[in-house]
Amino acid sequence: MRVLIVGCGYVGFPLGKELVRQGHTVFGLRRSALAADEMRSAGIQPLLADVTQPESLTQLPRDFDWVVNCTASGGGDAADYRKIYLEGNRHLIAWLAGSPIKKFIYTSSTSVYAQNDGSVVTENSPTEPAAATSQVLVETEQLLLAAAAQQFPAAILRVAGIYGPGRGYSFKAFLRGEARIEGTGARWLNMIHRDDLIGVIIAALQNARPGEIYNAADNESPSQLEFYQWLAGELQRPLPLSVVADVEAWRRRGVTNKQVSNAKLRAELKYQFQFPDYRTGYAAEIARLATE
Ligand SMILES: NC(=O)c1ccc[n+]([C@@H]2O[C@H](COP(=O)([O-])OP(=O)(O)OC[C@H]3O[C@@H](n4cnc5c(N)ncnc54)[C@H](OP(=O)(O)O)[C@@H]3O)[C@@H](O)[C@H]2O)c1
Repeated sequence: MRVLIVGCGYVGFPLGKELVRQGHTVFGLRRSALAADEMRSAGIQPLLADVTQPESLTQLPRDFDWVVNCTASGGGDAADYRKIYLEGNRHLIAWLAGSPIKKFIYTSSTSVYAQNDGSVVTENSPTEPAAATSQVLVETEQLLLAAAAQQFPAAILRVAGIYGPGRGYSFKAFLRGEARIEGTGARWLNMIHRDDLIGVIIAALQNARPGEIYNAADNESPSQLEFYQWLAGELQRPLPLSVVADVEAWRRRGVTNKQVSNAKLRAELKYQFQFPDYRTGYAAEIARLATE
């Protein structure tokens, strides 16, 4: 297949390498030429463009079978989200309309679920986020679903917290001694290892049905307490301090409390996890850190 990865960063770059290894012809699009040599050495053909600037796309080839949009805003506010996610996807859809594209995968986020009661959420659960940034992600999903209804072959992955080499919000806070257990630590965490996300994206390119949404999280949501207890045991360090859970501050920051179900992903995309839970994934990370 001829594959275009739009946003060749933490996820996109190793995704491209894996697709090259599997024998595909891979192009990687980003704004900066800084990584072009690294991409070429990995067998990925670099393309320079900015998805927020539609005119920059028009001079690129368009004959791709598969396109993955994993650009990221790198933080930012709702206006930044609107530019990169909503307008970026809009420009990509317009640019690719009428091309031979067979599948378009967009990496959305489980932050579209605002559930705060610890409930299990599936792809059919309501998406009514309080955070303005997440509301833009909901709008972006709606844009892609509307395009899918008009024969544009888009499918959506709602991705949980990504961890892996150099990444992992709670893990890094724990290593710095800055992690805190909020209240009783009962809040659920939802994660996926980067290498599994790469596998899930490839499974979605092969098997996802256009117009469908799939949660991309691993098999187990640990509570915050369980996660830190496990890390403390593995690393022989003290358990983080407990602080009062400020539920009002959570609401303002868009912090949620839910268990993201991956049942649809497993049933329909037939993906077998390399790191089915945080213990297997972080055991690998801890072993890797020990050799650095
Ligand atoms: N981090 C998480 O836990 C999490 C959770 C849920 C979903 N996600 C989603 O997962 C995906 C992958 O994230 P990641 O961690 O791999 O992001 P990343 O490391 O920040 O990479 C983003 C890539 O997008 C490129 N990019 C940014 N703006 C662009 C633009 N305007 N035009 C073209 N390329 C642009 C960047 O390169 P240049 O700067 O050179 O352009 C970079 O290669 C994203 O869609 C993110 O929203 C992440």
